Amino acid sequence: MRTQCKSLRSHDQKATVQKRFVSLCFSNPPYHRLKASKVTSLLDISLTERDFKTVQKLIYQLAGISLGDSKQVMVQGRLSKRMRKLNIDCYGEYIKFVQSAEGADEVTNFINALTTNKTEFFRESHHFDFLAKTAFPEIEERARCSGERKLRIWCSAASTGEEPYTIAMAVRQHFSAGQGWDVRILASDIDTDVLHTAETGIYSQERLDDLPPGLQKKYFEREAHGNETFRAKDTLRELITFRRLNLHDDSWPINTTFDIIFCRNVLIYFDAPTQQKVVTHFGKYLRQDGYLILGHSESLHGMSDQFNALGITVYRKLTDPAPLQMNTAFRPQTATLAAPAKRFPAAIEAPRGDHGYRKNSAPAKETQAESDCDVKHSIIVGDVLVSDKPVWITTLLGSCVAVCLYDEAAGIAGMNHFMLPAPRESSTVCNRYGVHSMELLINSLMAHGADRRRLKAKVFGGCSAEHSDFPHIGVSNVDFASNFLKVEGIPVIAQFTNQGTGMYIEFHTLSQKVRVRLLDRKTTEVVSRDEQTKAVTVQASIDRTADVTLFENAY
Ligand SMILES: C[S@@+](CC[C@H](N)C(=O)[O-])C[C@H]1O[C@@H](n2cnc3c(N)ncnc32)[C@H](O)[C@@H]1O
Repeated sequence: MRTQCKSLRSHDQKATVQKRFVSLCFSNPPYHRLKASKVTSLLDISLTERDFKTVQKLIYQLAGISLGDSKQVMVQGRLSKRMRKLNIDCYGEYIKFVQSAEGADEVTNFINALTTNKTEFFRESHHFDFLAKTAFPEIEERARCSGERKLRIWCSAASTGEEPYTIAMAVRQHFSAGQGWDVRILASDIDTDVLHTAETGIYSQERLDDLPPGLQKKYFEREAHGNETFRAKDTLRELITFRRLNLHDDSWPINTTFDIIFCRNVLIYFDAPTQQKVVTHFGKYLRQDGYLILGHSESLHGMSDQFNALGITVYRKLTDPAPLQMNTAFRPQTATLAAPAKRFPAAIEAPRGDHGYRKNSAPAKETQAESDCDVKHSIIVGDVLVSDKPVWITTLLGSCVAVCLYDEAAGIAGMNHFMLPAPRESSTVCNRYGVHSMELLINSLMAHGADRRRLKAKVFGGCSAEHSDFPHIGVSNVDFASNFLKVEGIPVIAQFTNQGTGMYIEFHTLSQKVRVRLLDRKTTEVVSRDEQTKAVTVQASIDRTADVTLFENAY
């Protein structure tokens, strides 16, 4: 088939196009590589403004990709390759062909031509440190409680495979063979060409230069008849399933939930409504407390209340996936704010209560806004949660400390939960350390619109239980928080710390009131011993009993 563009037949028009093309050839890098004969064969081709608009519409409908107006030259170059293959020399004809029943098979090539597939092994390597130091140990701990050694990871924009093979290496480095772990990695992409490359698992030495020392030899073997190419070993390949999947589709053919979803460097190609749709959809495919990992320039800020930002573009799915409900009674200007916080009595006396709490004095009175608000988000160690809506943020503390920070005038508040003041090596970044967690909390508040100068703090936790192996950690955590806030000039309005028992706290982001329930000795021991991991399990059971009337103090 050879179709010609009627509109370009006149000599003058051709001369104009020729001029334009020659100038493109010398001003845009991709064209430098075209040989003279190819340039001549392209002289009939020009992507008009109108055709470009049609391409923009089409790729948006098909893949959710928003092509900016500045991409016209790029699109011209990419589609021209397909057109040469099909012997079509007019964009208008090519686009009509793609849209026709006859050209149904070309739709895939059209999409493949317009995706951007840049990737590399261990790209944004901090995410793989996060897997090794935080996500995998947590999943192991959960398996110890549940007995189920199962790990499901989805790499949802896998491109040529460097990302899923990196994930597979991280898995193999952490989980020894023979421990009985059932691990599956789903690697999907919309682009069938890159998926084909990914599935072969064959890479040049240049690509493999990105691997940390030792991993190439361990996980790749030289191809027998290869030209300095290397193939991923079966130990990686057997973990991964490759599938074409369009994130823009309304339903995905997946019938499992994942512990971790990677969606890196693809949301940037979508507009805000498409990003929101995709992220909401991810929420349904992530298990509770599962992680969603985005690329360095992507963010869920203002897009979803289902996730809690942990920093380094890692998000955790919140325990309560219900959307936040904005009741007009909760709006800052009409809400009753908490009475000025007071210092707490040293002892909160009590006969033992149920559910691991100690009873103390009578329940504190709730404001209307607090009692109307049934949205609770629990956080665990390493989490930071900020909201400009009225929610209860809850957490369970042993020797850990939680700092509630708020800008009352802006109606923005948040809470963190950290385990240790600072890492031994200053290069280690992890929100389990106060120094990073506090930074993240303040930055998130400001990103939501809080004014740093108006911030106020309430500090809780830091139990100094003598039965703990590290009885001084609680004190160190509290000292750290106090010093940090002093240096930052943030006034501490209330503090309830260094008690002999752990505590469960609930912070209302609108009234800034904090309800505290002390834990009994046994629960405190459980929490303190393995705060890092047990908090997940214990907190879940406490949330289930949270409707039971308990005695509490309010701060
Ligand atoms: C820049 S690459 C990122 C690759 C890898 N995630 C990384 O960060 O290195 C973006 C990938 O997203 C894929 N993509 C674009 N639109 C998509 C869609 N609607 N559904 C699934 N994948 C899509 C592209 O084909 C491309 O391979």
